[in-house]
Amino acid sequence: MTNTNWSDWHDAYARPDSGLADRLTAVRAQISRRLDATAPDPVRVVSACSGDGRDLLGVLDRRSDADRVTALLVEYDSELASRARAAAKTLSARVEVRQADAAQSDVYADAVPADLVLLCGIFGNISDADVRTTIDAAPQLCAPAAEVIWTRHRGDPDLTPSIREWFAGAGFEEVAFVAPDADDWSVGVHRLASDPRPLDPGRQWFTFFR
Ligand SMILES: C[S@@+](CC[C@H](N)C(=O)[O-])C[C@H]1O[C@@H](n2cnc3c(N)ncnc32)[C@H](O)[C@@H]1O
Repeated sequence: MTNTNWSDWHDAYARPDSGLADRLTAVRAQISRRLDATAPDPVRVVSACSGDGRDLLGVLDRRSDADRVTALLVEYDSELASRARAAAKTLSARVEVRQADAAQSDVYADAVPADLVLLCGIFGNISDADVRTTIDAAPQLCAPAAEVIWTRHRGDPDLTPSIREWFAGAGFEEVAFVAPDADDWSVGVHRLASDPRPLDPGRQWFTFFR
C-alpha cells in the first residue's frame, strides 16, 4: 500500500531534532483541550492513519475520565496496529484499532459521527488534490461542532494557507493553528460550524505517495 516503513518512521519521535516530539506535544494539548471542553459528556473519536496511536492513547492514559471516550483508530500497518492495541488494552476507554484502509469512507460507517477527528501525519503524504478531497469529506465524519485536529509540514511550497482556506470552505471555523518559527511542523484545529453531512459510501478520499 505504501513504500515507507512507517514503523521505523515512528522512531523519529525519540529524536529531539526531528520536531516530531514537539508536534506530538502540540497535538496532545489540543486533544486534552477538547476532552476538557466536552466533559463530562461521552466523546467519540476517530483517528485516520493513526500509527501507533500515541497521540490519543497518550492523553487517555493520563486521564481519570478516559472511560467516557469511545475511539476508532484506523491504521494499515499490522505492527503499528498491534502496538496501538497493546497500549489501548491498559485504558478504561473503549478503543478499537482497525487494521484497514483509512482512505475508504466505508471503514468509518459504524464509528461516526465523531466529536473529535484526528487527521495527523496524512496531509504531508498525499497529493494536494487528495488533501482537499479529504477536507471536503471531513464533515461526513463529524457530529455537530466536532473538531478536526490535523498536521502538515510548512516546507516549500507551504500548503497550510490553502488547507486553512479549504477547511473554511468546507464549513469549519479555525480553533487553533500552531506553527512554531523554529520548525516547519504545524498543527491545526478546525471546528465544524455548519451542518454535518451523511457518510457517502464507497468513496476513496486519498492515496499515500510515500
Ligand atoms: C506519518 S504516519 C502518522 C501516524 C500517526 N497519525 C502520527 O501522527 O504519529 C502515517 C501513518 O499512516 C499509515 N497509513 C498510510 N496509508 C494508510 C491507509 N491508506 N490506511 C491506513 N493507514 C495508512 C501508515 O502506516 C502510518 O502509520
